[in-house]
Amino acid sequence: MDTLQGAVAVVTGGASGIGRSTAHSLARRGAHILVADIDAPAAQTVVDELASYGADALTVRCDVTADTAFEELKASALDRFGRVDLVMNNVGALTRGRPDRIPVEEWQRVIDINLMSVVRSNAVFVPYFLQQGRGHIVNTASIAGLYTYSYDRLPYAASKAALVQLSEGLRAYLRPRGIGVTLLCPGPVRTNIDAARLPCFGPVVATRGPGEEFAVLPADTVGEQVAQAVLTDTFMVLTHERVRDVLVDRASDWNAFMGRQTAALAEE
Ligand SMILES: NC(=O)c1ccc[n+]([C@@H]2O[C@H](COP(=O)([O-])OP(=O)(O)OC[C@H]3O[C@@H](n4cnc5c(N)ncnc54)[C@H](O)[C@@H]3O)[C@@H](O)[C@H]2O)c1
Repeated sequence: MDTLQGAVAVVTGGASGIGRSTAHSLARRGAHILVADIDAPAAQTVVDELASYGADALTVRCDVTADTAFEELKASALDRFGRVDLVMNNVGALTRGRPDRIPVEEWQRVIDINLMSVVRSNAVFVPYFLQQGRGHIVNTASIAGLYTYSYDRLPYAASKAALVQLSEGLRAYLRPRGIGVTLLCPGPVRTNIDAARLPCFGPVVATRGPGEEFAVLPADTVGEQVAQAVLTDTFMVLTHERVRDVLVDRASDWNAFMGRQTAALAEE
């Protein structure tokens, strides 16, 4: 997308954290925003904030697990703005516990929010963008979907890994058809998501992040990274450059890498 001036963006999970900051970064560049979130009052606060850029913004309360959620978002955006240029699929749910203690129902809940919501979004917006001949999709995954630094959140990591594959395939399919796909893989970012505050299945496990070498970024930094990626049609956004070294290390000897990760986790 050459410019965000006058573009129309739908941001799910736009009321907080990375979604809110991305809404700000897009609106600062002239985009109109539909803030979609299950928390309607917080979404309205973001809409009010966006007015300072002169952005036309609208909130729609939505639960991304509902079958009709994305049809309703599209209809609301078309009704207000006349078109959609960008969709950011950004809602994610974290869970934690030992792999043998997380119930199947919890797996289903997390996969429904993290993965199937994006499937539902694509079912609505991919045909729409194809017909329009342009558009851009941003999917928020995580470095937890790129490599294993913990075993305390398997449904989360597995669903984010699935988003990586889904986004790569979509990029290959849609790029020749004039539609961009960006995959955001954040490391630690200061938002309202907090693993330590979540209930834990089974005995409490220490919440393990990717390591102290991964600084916790302000969400605003990530919002700017996303806006730049959309403007430059960049596929991968790694908020923390250091993750490249980890992935190179793993690719050079995957078995040795897993041996080191297993030993490090066993020590805790
Ligand atoms: N913060 C991090 O360190 C980090 C790291 C990697 C990936 N991520 C990913 O970034 C994304 C955004 O997370 P965040 O850290 O900004 O969290 P956040 O909690 O600050 O924001 C999440 C937003 O999603 C909304 N939401 C939750 N369930 C919803 C539903 N069913 N339907 C609609 N809206 C819903 C919440 O109300 C909230 O406004 C998630 O996909 C998360 O997995 C975050």
